[in-house]
Amino acid sequence: MKILITGANGQLGTELCHLLDAKGIDYTATGSAQLDITDRQQVAGYFARERPTVVYDCAAYTAVDAAEEEPGRAVNQAVNVRGTQNLATAAESVGATLVYVSTDYVFDGTNPVEYLESDTPNPQNAYGRAKLAGERVVQTTMSAYYIVRTSWVFGAYGKNFVYTMQKLAQTHHELAVVNDQVGRPTWTRTLAKFMVYCLNEKVAYGLYQLSNTGSCSWYEFACEILRDQDVKVNAVESAQFPQKAYRPRHVVMSLAKAEATGFKLMSWRDALHAFQAQIK
Ligand SMILES: NC(=O)c1ccc[n+]([C@@H]2O[C@H](COP(=O)([O-])OP(=O)(O)OC[C@H]3O[C@@H](n4cnc5c(N)ncnc54)[C@H](OP(=O)(O)O)[C@@H]3O)[C@@H](O)[C@H]2O)c1
Repeated sequence: MKILITGANGQLGTELCHLLDAKGIDYTATGSAQLDITDRQQVAGYFARERPTVVYDCAAYTAVDAAEEEPGRAVNQAVNVRGTQNLATAAESVGATLVYVSTDYVFDGTNPVEYLESDTPNPQNAYGRAKLAGERVVQTTMSAYYIVRTSWVFGAYGKNFVYTMQKLAQTHHELAVVNDQVGRPTWTRTLAKFMVYCLNEKVAYGLYQLSNTGSCSWYEFACEILRDQDVKVNAVESAQFPQKAYRPRHVVMSLAKAEATGFKLMSWRDALHAFQAQIK
């Protein structure tokens, strides 16, 4: 395997690099400075020259609120749609396998039970629409691909909800956190392991959903993050925190298809505790 990682400076990309390092697997890591996926010619030239056989695509525009308005709206389209098209076209031209990461925001959050991979998406914000368009691009361009939808990502390398809560707890005695958005937290390590597992175990190509098991609201997640700290966490409604992008209220994605591959998932609580022990 000749492995290329795009978006290697991000939360997930950095985790993946560390995982492959630990396994002694060679790869090339690129950030936007080395390989700008919005630059079609650069991407085509890179693939023609380097001919990677596996592409872990961790590059994305992830500013969910900024994506609602210019200039973020244009960047969202450029990176998440056209950038994905550039990568997929180039990857297909050299016969590579592409691993594309998508989001629970492809769903509208009106389903009170678990979403299956086969359920019809209905994204309610610009980021979700662009990531879904990215999925379609991969499905229509690639012969060999994994699309891995994930949600509520946290990990050691970048901005995320766990770090935000831990930081706020240093300066506040009370915090207000929304209790009417429910989802499944995902540790970058679990997600990175699954991406590598798919390739190594020759899992059937296609669309998968992957997070840690269990579900919670952001309020419940915050309570668990701060369980050992002297901070009062108050539950509030989303209406009290107006944001530019709409957040779906209840997206719990089914993990049955990923689990049926034999991949073992830990609960979000265990994952959180392991992560907090790691960064202590
Ligand atoms: N974070 C979440 O809660 C969440 C939830 C669901 C799904 N996801 C998906 O999970 C994946 C990984 O997300 P993440 O949290 O790791 O994101 P992240 O930390 O924001 O990292 C994204 C990376 O993409 C790179 N990038 C942006 N524009 C690029 C371009 N034009 N060319 C090449 N690289 C570019 C950036 O590279 P530079 O730093 O080098 O500019 C950045 O390091 C994404 O597909 C995201 O949509 C994330």
